[in-house]
Amino acid sequence: MKKFFIQTFGCQMNVYDGQRIATLLESHGFISTDNIADADIIILNTCAVREKATNKVYSALGRIRAAKKPDALFGIVGCVARESGADAFRRIPELNFVLGPQSYHKLPEILSDPDTKLFNIDLGGLEKFDSMPRPAISPAVAYIPIQEGCNHCCTYCIVPHTRGREISRSPQSVMHDVTHAAETGAVEICFLGQNVNGYNFVDDTGISHRLSELIRETAKIDAVQRIRFTSSYPTEMTDDLIEIFGTEPKLLPFLNMPIQSGSPNVLTKMNRPYSLDLYIDIVNKLRHVRPDIQISSDFIVGFPGETDDDFEQTMDIAKRIRYINSYSFKYSPRPHTAAAVMPNQIPESVKANRLAKLDSCLNEIQREFNESCIDKTFLCLCDGPDKTGRHLVYRTPYMQQCIVNMPDDNTYPTLANIRITAANKASLRGEFTDK
Ligand code: 5AD
Ligand code: SF4
Repeated sequence: MKKFFIQTFGCQMNVYDGQRIATLLESHGFISTDNIADADIIILNTCAVREKATNKVYSALGRIRAAKKPDALFGIVGCVARESGADAFRRIPELNFVLGPQSYHKLPEILSDPDTKLFNIDLGGLEKFDSMPRPAISPAVAYIPIQEGCNHCCTYCIVPHTRGREISRSPQSVMHDVTHAAETGAVEICFLGQNVNGYNFVDDTGISHRLSELIRETAKIDAVQRIRFTSSYPTEMTDDLIEIFGTEPKLLPFLNMPIQSGSPNVLTKMNRPYSLDLYIDIVNKLRHVRPDIQISSDFIVGFPGETDDDFEQTMDIAKRIRYINSYSFKYSPRPHTAAAVMPNQIPESVKANRLAKLDSCLNEIQREFNESCIDKTFLCLCDGPDKTGRHLVYRTPYMQQCIVNMPDDNTYPTLANIRITAANKASLRGEFTDK
């Protein structure tokens, strides 16, 4: 039996791409292996968002070179493939294929002609979504991309280069995936997109289809119990989308809406043209229609020119919004981006200090939020048993991890009402309850 090894780095979109590649290879008779030395085809599904992510790819490439069978097919796909282009073959002569994030459906070409070097980093196509086989069984959470790429052009971000301009899939194509996922085991649908709430598909009659419509249609499917979407751009949070948080109970009361910085000066340099007032106004409207909603954010610290005062404004907004489940990063200069050549780049030590300070503030807010959940009951979704097999890991509607004892008979529901009994900053403990 031929075997494939695939390692995925980066965002949820990449995880999705990795699953599609695995399904494609399975349909060609391959089975998955964790052992590089056993594999007949080896794929690194790569991320270029920060320098650290790219470095991880290059160190994995070194490990693979040393361990792989001499005749195994070896390639990189995804954002580093797109970023390094044909140069990748020069840097790693053993590579057989280099495929960008929108061309991995071309993989069968290398399977039928292993002696060629396959190279395609084209953008602008939705072909990969509909031309590849879907998995026969869906995981309980189905990630469904509805758009790809981004038109916002934040000055720090490589994504418009690696994933291109925004393209939205047709509602028919999206709903085909949703229905298939629901019929094959999904109970939660997570819509994905670099700019997911900018989803806009204009049909032949000129009618514009938006994310709120996809949510409404998906909620009609009985098997689907939870719906969410990520990641949202603040100014695309239109009223129809805000309102649906008030009217659609299956939509989780949790929204990832990165602010990146709390300083208007830094936001301008980032080319994120929204005011703090506008952002706060959107959060207030959301809390008005859905009082239990919680917001998460991504933050970048140490952006070129960021002063101590700018950074303090980021700390202030984090406390003011009381973000949960957030991520913060040190600014990392990326190729093809405007910020990489801006003056006043911030020293690494200053970035590290600011990151530690922001992380500790976010952790404290998270701990307080987690503690506020004690004695509440949530409908939670099971991720499966932990490593010991003695506990189950569930996800609350706010994506907190909640640990529950494994029942004596080792059977457990995918969705369950769980009463929270204890909390710390990282996770919750809970027990099954009837209501
Ligand atoms: N440096 C640091 N963080 C970055 N992000 C995107 N580009 C960079 C960069 N050059 C972060 C943003 C984004 C998340 C996916 O990664 O916070 O929301
Ligand atoms: Fe990484 Fe961005 Fe590409 Fe996702 S889209 S893999 S985060 S560079």
